[in-house]
Amino acid sequence: MDPRPIGMFDSGVGGLTVLHECLVAQPQEDFIYLGDTGRFPYGPRSIEEIRSFALQIASHLLALDVKLLVVACNSATAAALPWLQERLDAAIIGAVHPESEAAVQTTRNRRVGVMATEATVASGSYQRALLGLDAGLEVHPQPCPSLASMIQAGDVSSPELVEAARSYTAPLKQAGVDTVVLGCTHYPLVTPMLQRLLGKGIKLINSAREIAREVGEVLERKGIENDPGREGEYSFLCTGDVDAFVEVGARFLQMPFERVRRVEIDELERIGTR
Ligand code: DGL
Repeated sequence: MDPRPIGMFDSGVGGLTVLHECLVAQPQEDFIYLGDTGRFPYGPRSIEEIRSFALQIASHLLALDVKLLVVACNSATAAALPWLQERLDAAIIGAVHPESEAAVQTTRNRRVGVMATEATVASGSYQRALLGLDAGLEVHPQPCPSLASMIQAGDVSSPELVEAARSYTAPLKQAGVDTVVLGCTHYPLVTPMLQRLLGKGIKLINSAREIAREVGEVLERKGIENDPGREGEYSFLCTGDVDAFVEVGARFLQMPFERVRRVEIDELERIGTR
């Protein structure tokens, strides 16, 4: 048993889809979630920049004595996960691998689409992970440049969002994929719309659910779960405006959204250079 909290971060509110799944599946655990809203979005940034942000945030959360760090952001995972694991003495898990496993288990025609940010697609990490599990797969990565930003702004249904989503899903339908990985933690928030656009024959892999499944497995295998009889607590940090984070976050978490504190970017930068 380990009573320490689990740390989790994303560039914004997308990782709340992961937290939501974890709060349901692991009600006994405490969580500290950091949304780097002051530096959102990560998608258009370089790998080097995302790595430095991820290292600052990971160091900040580890200083709060978390027992497990969850990179609840596909862009940060794609740019920085192995790099963080090499540098930090901690258990760190992220996206990409859990969804890739689920996609390989799901597909029947071995044609898999991946919807993700530009940074995630450019990193090639989904291609590596998917082909590492089934070298005969046909992988179709689709960058979706504006989707996460629209969702982060609280938009889940405007005509502009639907048009953008239509343009991202069309090439995947054209390619004949039967499985699509939602390779950005913001995207599960628009699952019904994406499913409608892709058609019901295509299976969607929800990154949030798959990451939460891996969190459960790691806690169990390492024997670091909290007391199963208790109800855990959770709190939030963000680097941008607290009110805006609470407003959008509460809608997306679908659970009480309290205990929110701002952490200054300067403070994170100081940790990162220590
Ligand atoms: N939620 C983040 C991800 O999973 C990305 C959004 C962004 O910062 O561009 O990739």
